[in-house]
Amino acid sequence: MPHATITGWGHYTPPAVLSNADLASVIDTNDEWITTRSGIKERRISHVSNAEMATAAARQALAAADMAADEIDLIIVATCTPDRALPSVASYVQRELGGLGATMDLNAACSGFVYSLGVANGMIAAGTVERALIIGAERLSAFLDLSFRSTAVLFGDGAGAVVVEATEGPDGLLSSNLHSDGSLTEILTIRGGGTEGHFDASIPVTVDMEGREIFRHAVTRMGEGAITALDSAGLTVEDIDVLISHQANIRIIDATARRLKIDPENVYTNIHAYGNTSAASIPIALSEALDQGVISPGDVVAMVAFGGGLTWGAAVLRWGDRVTRLRTIEHDVPGTDKTGLELLADRVQGLGV
Ligand code: ACO
Repeated sequence: MPHATITGWGHYTPPAVLSNADLASVIDTNDEWITTRSGIKERRISHVSNAEMATAAARQALAAADMAADEIDLIIVATCTPDRALPSVASYVQRELGGLGATMDLNAACSGFVYSLGVANGMIAAGTVERALIIGAERLSAFLDLSFRSTAVLFGDGAGAVVVEATEGPDGLLSSNLHSDGSLTEILTIRGGGTEGHFDASIPVTVDMEGREIFRHAVTRMGEGAITALDSAGLTVEDIDVLISHQANIRIIDATARRLKIDPENVYTNIHAYGNTSAASIPIALSEALDQGVISPGDVVAMVAFGGGLTWGAAVLRWGDRVTRLRTIEHDVPGTDKTGLELLADRVQGLGV
């Protein structure tokens, strides 16, 4: 049966940096608290829309696969921060790139990329799709309320993308599993981010979460998901060459790796540089890991994620022969000379500092 293999990858991280020191200059926090609790040193704040970030990452992924946009049968953008209620971010990406394949956004919060990989793989196995563009793109700064210090320090913006193609070869997605526990919807939510907020302006438009509860569930569920995916692929933890976890918190990543008994050397992390970029975190990390030579031909790559829902999922892939891009391109996104803090000026003003 055909299945999906990754043949192109790319990422776009906005240039404007918001450091821990920047945050400490406007709210009651400090670098030591943020670093020890989360591993985050800085995050990026986007000066462009979610769709522009997604398109930039997608262009790179298409170039890496040396593929034209009109060869793509399906674009999925995993996101919980779309620019508009409709049309989808994926439709805007297609407007920029061209093509007439199917487009849709998928909201499984931070598990969105792993979910999208599973959906595309299913469509490839069913024979309805041969080539798909899967993008994780988030502009979480839109929901950043600096008066909620426990969440304001955790999130950032960015996009990552992969091209997947049908193959009957030994490489590609070996197995994946997707889950959700709907009884836990309220422990991680953006209450005012949807239509509810239009009817009740008192609902806060920011990430609202029970940090410790999420922590506990995340470690358990990502560990279970990885073991199940490995079992289905006839592999064990010892076979994992590179683990790419959703970058939510370095302590969650470390605890998951310890639970799985994976050597820290086999765990790729970049949370210090970008914070939690939700559905974008795994494809950004994957793209960076490839660019840094962390993944070798034939490697077993495991991805694990959790997010609002509470969703979780895992995927195990065997990498193919190629770990370099067929073509590389420069991003054509207009730059900005503003700092992260300057881009958030309206939010800073509200703090009265
Ligand atoms: N700076 C300084 N102090 C702070 C800050 C801050 N930014 N935020 C909270 N504090 C204080 C609190 O007020 C509290 O003070 P108190 O003891 O005087 O009341 C103290 O720090 C401890 O707060 P806790 O919330 O209990 O801190 P905890 O050790 O649990 O760490 C954290 C919080 C980092 C959020 C942790 O619970 C965590 O990482 N949980 C997982 C959450 C997560 O991963 N979320 C991302 C999922 S969402 C998604 O992926 C889209």
